[in-house]
Amino acid sequence: MVKVRPMLMSDLDVVAEWLTEIPLWQRYNLTRSKAQATFEKAFRQQAVLLVADTSSEHACAVAWCIPDGAFGRSAYLRMLGVRTTQSGQGIGSVLMQEVEHIASQSSEELFLLVSDFNTGAQRFYQRRGFQHIGVIPRYILPDVDENIYWKRFG
Ligand SMILES: CC(C)(COP(=O)(O)OP(=O)(O)OC[C@H]1O[C@@H](n2cnc3c(N)ncnc32)[C@H](O)[C@@H]1OP(=O)(O)O)[C@@H](O)C(=O)NCCC(=O)NCCS
Repeated sequence: MVKVRPMLMSDLDVVAEWLTEIPLWQRYNLTRSKAQATFEKAFRQQAVLLVADTSSEHACAVAWCIPDGAFGRSAYLRMLGVRTTQSGQGIGSVLMQEVEHIASQSSEELFLLVSDFNTGAQRFYQRRGFQHIGVIPRYILPDVDENIYWKRFG
């Protein structure tokens, strides 16, 4: 069973530990200290921070959504991650459902970016009704384009 709940400061250590083991974020040079600092900032900014618990694993997935993070008017999903050992079991889908529910209360759309090489995540979002609407060339890393995905609610 998967339970989604607000992330607490006390989840930070465990989340930062597994997050930095994910190859995607290793490619973006995410270290434990950077992850800690980034999440501390997100807490201060009162972003939507959610984690998922399973019966065997505490805080094994995380979502970070900024309600007006896209163009100052639409919700932006800044991060979605599932611990590698737990991926492919539906946890990301459950978490995403809750993110969309929360985002839809204050925004008509949800935007997110996906690395060009991350075809698994692109499939995941497309299956959830997200459309690929553009590309930001070499936005974060010099050799990676960021795909813009977008979903309009309702
Ligand atoms: C993408 C991600 C959030 C999906 O969560 P999940 O719990 O594994 O997904 P679910 O079990 O609900 O759904 C499985 C689908 O996710 C996608 N997926 C992407 N990466 C995957 C992975 N490493 N393992 C399994 N499924 C993955 C696939 O589309 C898969 O569908 P398929 O069976 O048709 O291939 C998760 O795998 C993850 O954190 N990956 C690494 C970080 C990442 O890419 N985050 C998104 C950045 S924009």
